[in-house]
Amino acid sequence: MKKYNFNAGPSILPDVVLEAAAKAIIDFDGTGLSLLSISHRTPEFEAVLAEADSLFRELLNIPDNYKIYFMGGGASTQFFHIPANFLAKKAGYVNTGVWTKKAIKEAKFYGEVEVVASSDDKNFSYIPKNFDIPKDLDYLYICANNTIFGTEYKCDIDSPVPLFADMSSNILSRPIDVSKYALIYGGAQKNLAPAGVSFMIIRDDMLGKVVRPLPTMMNVNTYVENNSMFNTPPVFPIYVLRETLKWLKAEGGVAEIHRRNEEKAAKLYAEIDRNSLFRGTVAKEDRSSMNICFVMSEGNEELASEFMSFAKERGMVGIKGHRLVGGFRASCYNACPMEAVEALVACMQEFEKMHA
Ligand SMILES: Cc1ncc(COP(=O)(O)O)c(C=O)c1O
Repeated sequence: MKKYNFNAGPSILPDVVLEAAAKAIIDFDGTGLSLLSISHRTPEFEAVLAEADSLFRELLNIPDNYKIYFMGGGASTQFFHIPANFLAKKAGYVNTGVWTKKAIKEAKFYGEVEVVASSDDKNFSYIPKNFDIPKDLDYLYICANNTIFGTEYKCDIDSPVPLFADMSSNILSRPIDVSKYALIYGGAQKNLAPAGVSFMIIRDDMLGKVVRPLPTMMNVNTYVENNSMFNTPPVFPIYVLRETLKWLKAEGGVAEIHRRNEEKAAKLYAEIDRNSLFRGTVAKEDRSSMNICFVMSEGNEELASEFMSFAKERGMVGIKGHRLVGGFRASCYNACPMEAVEALVACMQEFEKMHA
């Protein structure tokens, strides 16, 4: 049976990328050696890293005064790396769910945290807007897409202090104005690569603003000065990341993938709104295009497990919602084809007919 992969992360990657990765495990770029058993300090791997850098720049229109680096440890490592490097006295955080709560907890090890806005009052079902940003903050931190609750900032906000964003689950899903951010980072295991690598896009002036002496591997400058190769980087995930960026370019780049993402999201949200058995869980204007959350409508709650089995029998994978929201979550990352969304919509329609 055909499977439709809606996993939240690690998640779907393009077939051509998986094929290239499989091939490289046996014979890396014609070297006659496996990608898994070469030194990272070879011209061949250095070329992979250089191409990943230049494709990232090209696809996201990253200005020249930004550096990109890759490191292990996932996005959760950045939760403490970032404040270790940049929180001298007080940082501002917008609390929009689990991932910002975790980031706030880590930041408190290094200084004061002011939660400048929060959607905690309504189970994180919206993105706070029009909040004041104090001028005395070392930085303002947001999570651009809330993977668990299914909310997303639909535009790049303005900030009078350096703006930092966790883009783990929506990087390269839409065009962004990189110049509005001082730092963009994320784990790569949604839109880019398998787990094991995170990316950092950092404005040059921040490199001179590290606020305390730090162990070598904690300091952002170590990664920039050594071109992500102070120690052994996650070679395999970086290779796959390069392949995904090549795929994205060949597909027409971020503008085209954004068009497709909006089309997929519009189709699924339209069905959620139309179908009498289901309802959405977040404010419509803040609906994520990546993580689409929905539950059974009022009075139909007892049908949830039946729908889960029904969908599973039709090939849907990974649609169980996070326990904090319940219901269902279809993660429609860049590599998720329209065909998968159509299959899920057909499944919801069929289920509705059965219960009409
Ligand atoms: C938005 C966001 N930030 C951070 C994380 C944590 O990432 P990692 O598991 O790489 O530490 C996740 C994981 O799903 C996420 O979705």
